[in-house]
Amino acid sequence: MKLFDVYPLFDVNIVKGKGCRVWDDKGQEYLDLYGGHAVISIGHCHPHYIEMMTDQLNKLGFYSNSVINKLQVQLAERLGKISGYEEYQFFLINSGAEANENALKLASFYNGRTRVLSSEKAFHGRTSLAVEVTNNPKIIAPINDNGHVTYLPLNDLEAWEKEIAKGDVCAVIIECIQGVGGIRMATKEFMQGLRKACDKYNTVLICDEIQCGYGRSGKFFAHQYLDIKPDLISVAKGIGNGFPMAGLLISPKFTPTYGQLGTTFGGNHLACTAALAVIDVMEKENLVKNAGEIGNYLMQQLKEANLPHVVDVRGQGLMIGIELDCPYKEIRNKLVFEQHIFTGCSGTNVLRLLPPLCLTKAEADEFIAKFKKVLA
Ligand SMILES: Cc1ncc(COP(=O)(O)O)c(C=O)c1O
Repeated sequence: MKLFDVYPLFDVNIVKGKGCRVWDDKGQEYLDLYGGHAVISIGHCHPHYIEMMTDQLNKLGFYSNSVINKLQVQLAERLGKISGYEEYQFFLINSGAEANENALKLASFYNGRTRVLSSEKAFHGRTSLAVEVTNNPKIIAPINDNGHVTYLPLNDLEAWEKEIAKGDVCAVIIECIQGVGGIRMATKEFMQGLRKACDKYNTVLICDEIQCGYGRSGKFFAHQYLDIKPDLISVAKGIGNGFPMAGLLISPKFTPTYGQLGTTFGGNHLACTAALAVIDVMEKENLVKNAGEIGNYLMQQLKEANLPHVVDVRGQGLMIGIELDCPYKEIRNKLVFEQHIFTGCSGTNVLRLLPPLCLTKAEADEFIAKFKKVLA
């Protein structure tokens, strides 16, 4: 049997990782400024993570959600503390799309409505509701195209207020820093206006923090720069440092009932251990602060370098977009094959940096020196 061929692949076989470095099967070392698509938060193969995972695997890898799992309770408590959301409730699932799927479902259970507002260029996942709120017709199959969603320009508060005021909007879903959309940031004025409008019309405000969250922006959540509190916050990617898991932070205004949500694998023992190890390391190594400091340093250096082809550098912390005046493809290929640096991308012209949050200043400098060579 062959693989279903949906991914355009780099001809590189990565077999080993450590911190912000990975190695291929020929022993070539790479600087990883992609983090496996924003997934590696505390660095590849962190010793504390390996120790906790190995220890848990030797005890119990999985048991179902029909019995007490104290690791879930511990994780909810730790996450509540580190994020400043102690009064919220936590539901565990396995992927980002699933987190958004459950967020939209909860919103609809809450106010009985079915209409959703989402941003132009938004990406929220590939399953039924998650893909429907994703603004990319190429990946919305006819079966997912159910007319629930109105897409509006990010930061055009008036347009969003006008729709919310119709009184039939179930939820609005926003990435406060758009990832796939090209590192576009929601403004404070916009998000505060949305929060007010949602409160007035009983619309649920969902922040998708799957890519911009969990410390990447230099605050625990990107929306914390904007002084708002969403009703629902979806998290995934970096939360398990590569172990597939996701979560939904749920405001106290939602009252759970038995059977309302559910999952077989979500919040299993190994997944919770991965997430607890991530929080341990984030706290011990001050990774949120590091993401802010190194990210700002990197952006400042990139701006000051006045590099050819670079028309804009934007982002927050270690979520950085470098907009080029030409397609990124050749530059990104040269970065991988000549300079041995992985980067992400979005659209046709934006390089996207999503490194592990433990990136050092020396590694940031190394990228800038090698990027200059590629652009020269
Ligand atoms: C902002 C955002 N939301 C949702 C998702 C979907 O997450 P997953 O691929 O884990 O389903 C992604 C993945 O890239 C994302 O960046």
